[in-house]
Amino acid sequence: FDVVDLIRTKRDHGALSTPEIDWLIDAYTRGYVADEQMAALAMAIVLNGMSRQEIRDLTLAMIASGERMDFSQLSKTTVDKHSTGGVGDKITLPLMPLVASFGVAVPQLSGRGLGHTGGTLDKLESIPGWRASLSNAEILEQLESVGGVICAAGSGLAPADKKLYALRDITGTVEAIPLIASSIMSKKIAEGTASLVLDVKFGSGAFMQDIARSRELAQTMVDLGNDAGVRTTALLTNMEVPLGLTIGNANEVRESLEVLAGGGPADVVELTLALASEMLALAGQPDADVAAALADGRAMDTWNRVIRAQGGDPTAALPVAKETETVVAPASGVLLRQDALAFGIAAWRLGAGRARASDPVVHAAGIELHAKPGDTVVAGQPLFTLAADDASRFARALAALDGAWAVGPASELPESLPLVVE
Ligand code: URA
Repeated sequence: FDVVDLIRTKRDHGALSTPEIDWLIDAYTRGYVADEQMAALAMAIVLNGMSRQEIRDLTLAMIASGERMDFSQLSKTTVDKHSTGGVGDKITLPLMPLVASFGVAVPQLSGRGLGHTGGTLDKLESIPGWRASLSNAEILEQLESVGGVICAAGSGLAPADKKLYALRDITGTVEAIPLIASSIMSKKIAEGTASLVLDVKFGSGAFMQDIARSRELAQTMVDLGNDAGVRTTALLTNMEVPLGLTIGNANEVRESLEVLAGGGPADVVELTLALASEMLALAGQPDADVAAALADGRAMDTWNRVIRAQGGDPTAALPVAKETETVVAPASGVLLRQDALAFGIAAWRLGAGRARASDPVVHAAGIELHAKPGDTVVAGQPLFTLAADDASRFARALAALDGAWAVGPASELPESLPLVVE
């Protein structure tokens, strides 16, 4: 095949055949197709889309570019969760031990944050000693003995996606349903989980602001999973406001521990329980009492075992920032809004996130929210606290929050969609 012909085909609204896609992904992985050619093709896909068959072929070709994990030798069934990412989304932390406490294996192969969305591995690295990198043999052993693992996805899974995602990131070609769906699902199918629950977000802090596009992304991924033999379902959830009361790394671990101790913010608990029920239903336990396992400490026991198994000390103190700055309500009224994207960018500017994949994160940096939209506040009451190791970061973080929140009369409170929409 000639890659220029393939680019022209997509440019002119045509469809690529299965052999063409197989050849393209193999040639790109090996370096025979250049980055600029792949970028041109990715842009044609952003503009003109792909058919169901093309999306399926692309996903399978990216799986075939690397190794596949095999959990079939475990004595338990496997179930995983994937979130399309958001602000304050620490749900994997309480969810993994909660679901594992029911005797199923939860392999959470996770990533690091880039831009305003946080990464699960960055959050867990706040815990002294905790190690993200495990061999395949260690993952299998830990799933069998403890039931849960959160670790870095090995570089052997879908290497074509790794290369293509990095290229899309710098060429304005991330936001296309065929590309996002095939990227996420190639890694999840290659990982070898038997079942998968997707948390597909919409709203200001999500990839897709629009609920209809998020629904289409969810349906596309659910179809890809089920076609490949992975029992897959999705929840469509609201990312207009940050999840919970913390945005950052160490502070999100602290909040997750509150949830595992039976407390924590209502929205984090609600989403954790909803996803846990969905995961356990796929794993053959539709009547599991997930709330009881949070309340009675079973989920916390599993958390402690998982953290210890990966070298962490679950009793160690988490890092605390040197500098804080608190913003208070300018008047009495109701908190009207709290824009997820703006708060995510502010936490990033405080040091909680990174601009380049190689940057370090500041584990203690982030934001603590003291009120959520709909809460009544009085003048002078703290609304949120910024935390950083260097006070010079506050001005740029506050600039990101300009217009992102407001206090006013209850009559101006906009209607909001529920947390779990479908
Ligand atoms: N996450 C991925 O892994 N890939 C995408 O394309 C988008 C989000």
